[in-house]
Amino acid sequence: MILASAPAKCVLFGEHAVVYGQPAMAVALDLRTQVSIQANSRTQLEGCKFQPKIHPHIHFLLQKLWPKSSIEQRLSIEIQSTIPSASGLGSSAAMCNALIACLRAARGRRTDQQGHWLEGWSSFYNSKQAYERSSFDHYEMPPNVLGHDAISTDECGLLAHAAEAFAQGGLASPMDTSTSAHGGLILLGTNRKEQYLYTRELMVNQQIRSWDINHIQPRFPEDLYLVIGSTGVKSSTREQVKHVAELISNSNEHASYIDDIGTITMAGLEAMQNGDFVEVGRLMNQNQILLEKLQVSSTELRRLIRAALPTSLGTKLSGAGGGGCMIALTHHPEQTASAIESAGGTSFITSISKDGVRLESFENILGF
Ligand code: PMV
Repeated sequence: MILASAPAKCVLFGEHAVVYGQPAMAVALDLRTQVSIQANSRTQLEGCKFQPKIHPHIHFLLQKLWPKSSIEQRLSIEIQSTIPSASGLGSSAAMCNALIACLRAARGRRTDQQGHWLEGWSSFYNSKQAYERSSFDHYEMPPNVLGHDAISTDECGLLAHAAEAFAQGGLASPMDTSTSAHGGLILLGTNRKEQYLYTRELMVNQQIRSWDINHIQPRFPEDLYLVIGSTGVKSSTREQVKHVAELISNSNEHASYIDDIGTITMAGLEAMQNGDFVEVGRLMNQNQILLEKLQVSSTELRRLIRAALPTSLGTKLSGAGGGGCMIALTHHPEQTASAIESAGGTSFITSISKDGVRLESFENILGF
């Protein structure tokens, strides 16, 4: 068996706007998804026949990393997660990263005889060109390397993003996937910071969108916590993203909120770098007002946000919205968590996960 895990994320600033190239900031959390794979006579998920239409991310990744044309051996895949699904915490990104790590550990990096990478932008998956371009530099890895050495965090992030773009009808930023791949705090923007990782490009609405992915390391005070409040209402990222796309294409006013969110994110970064977390909280509240205007909040989210606000520096929804989770930045985690519970939510007091995707255990399941 091969086992890998990857963390959840929450969005401090910039969801939705990031799809249109605006900056955003996300942080990896200490909730993780574990994926394991074993050799099997047919493709199975959780012990049942695999259904590609119901699991587009997994389908896409198997096409890229484990196509029938290149390998006969089928797999049994198991997923275990402490991340609530469809809740804005990046559960699908974590699952993708962990699955990629498993598949890569099992059979190494797929290249053709000239050494061209067959999994990423140079490969072809005919139902959707989910990842046409990338300024990702060519990565050298000798063939037949398995286990830990076969895993590149950058490539996990790239492939996971391609899978999300495919599953979300072409509209996806690399925010969830890069944060889950690398861990810590990730800034997506149009500027390269001192801990620049790489640039992602994707065709969104006939335009090339480009995101510079940076690690940032602000000094987060030890007595400051992120409390997550889950509404328990599932929501589809694809539907929420589509709704915003329709809204902004029909209204200049709504389109301008996308730019305003980008401005708030950059102000949030500055406040964080200055150690001014009161200002960070105020900006989170401002971000929430704009998310309301983009109609991605909900009655349940508003109820939890109202409950958390008196004991928090700032609160907002996290992720696609329409249900899912809110986050609160607070010096009083127990009080905030209990206010969220009293308002009907489920709360998690979390800390930042420095670790991104991780191979937990490896056995050579193909006997190479
Ligand atoms: O709900 P989640 O965790 O899938 O986050 C979605 C974040 C969006 O900005 C709404 C979409 C994206 O691809 O960035």
